[in-house]
Amino acid sequence: MLINQPTITTNGGVRATWAEINLTRLSQNFQAIRARVAPASVMLVLKTNAYGHGMTEVARHLAVQADYLGVAVLEEGILLRELGITRPILVLGGIWSNQIPQYIEHNLTLTASSIERLEQIDAASGQMGVKAKVHLKIDTGMERIGVHYYSAHTLQEATLKCCRNVEVEGIYSHFASADSADLTFARLQLERFNEVLRFYEKHGLPAPLRHIANSGAVLQLPEANLDMVRPGILMYGVYPSPEVPHTVQVRPALAWKSLVVFFQGGQARASGQLWLDLAKRPHGARRDGAGRLRGWLLPQHVEQGPGHHSRSEISAGGAGVHGSDHGQSRMGHGLQRRRSDVDWRIGRNASRSRIWLSGLGRSPTKF
Ligand SMILES: Cc1ncc(COP(=O)(O)O)c(C=O)c1O
Repeated sequence: MLINQPTITTNGGVRATWAEINLTRLSQNFQAIRARVAPASVMLVLKTNAYGHGMTEVARHLAVQADYLGVAVLEEGILLRELGITRPILVLGGIWSNQIPQYIEHNLTLTASSIERLEQIDAASGQMGVKAKVHLKIDTGMERIGVHYYSAHTLQEATLKCCRNVEVEGIYSHFASADSADLTFARLQLERFNEVLRFYEKHGLPAPLRHIANSGAVLQLPEANLDMVRPGILMYGVYPSPEVPHTVQVRPALAWKSLVVFFQGGQARASGQLWLDLAKRPHGARRDGAGRLRGWLLPQHVEQGPGHHSRSEISAGGAGVHGSDHGQSRMGHGLQRRRSDVDWRIGRNASRSRIWLSGLGRSPTKF
């Protein structure tokens, strides 16, 4: 009952809103992926605060199960080392040359996305008297970081010439659209990457650890598994797009809960309130990246169990939004209301319906 719920938080939080993470479920998702891609290794992608799930706790719980950990930036890697995590960690993002010693000091694997960086890593590790581990980054069409596939051989040749203080442990690329129904471009990227890998065969050299598969590829492009896969969003229980086949069963692990003051199916917007516009961007987090960068998953599902009056739960995944409101509910376009338990529901097609969750203590947040 509401009367028993804290309406003023006393634990340092500002408002009555919180996220609950089901670590067991994350573990189950991880194992389901592992079973799907075996014998390939699996990287646990912890970047951007474990996709908003809290990197520290997720790492503590899951790192031991993973073959490799993946983070976006140096700081995340250092944080994991400070937690006592000893698994290998690849920093997937680009690096600034003046930070190279810190990567090496914390035994983080560096991404070498140009010959210049590779030489800088070699020089720094030489000075420090250690061997740095690197993975070469090949851009096969994502147009983010990395050496383009058509000049990848220059980077590969450089590893043979310049780098006595560097261990080239891996080589990787990233898919731009492996979660789309049309896999033409993803297949082209894979073909380009495989061509780059032929360098090793031609030179009679063993290929380093090869990896390219993200969530979309894990689900629908098994030929891309290679030596290791890097599923991010899928491990967190969210399918990367509505188009992918559910060849691995995962479930969301994040529930965002809040005490709700008032429900209104209106048009206006006021500051200090969080609003959900499902109609505009039902998969917004995936599409524009904002959700992930902010560390929030797109709420696609708002749930209300009977007896939990005026309490709202938002979890990632699922279709549409539904919930109930003990006191207030409105019929509107796309809104339904069930008489028995005063349930309300907004479907995916609710073109203009918005839910207002007042008093969440965040600046206006648009999903
Ligand atoms: C290099 C790299 N690998 C893997 C992933 C995981 O991608 P996804 O969440 O689509 O599985 C990301 C995420 O953006 C990435 O940047």
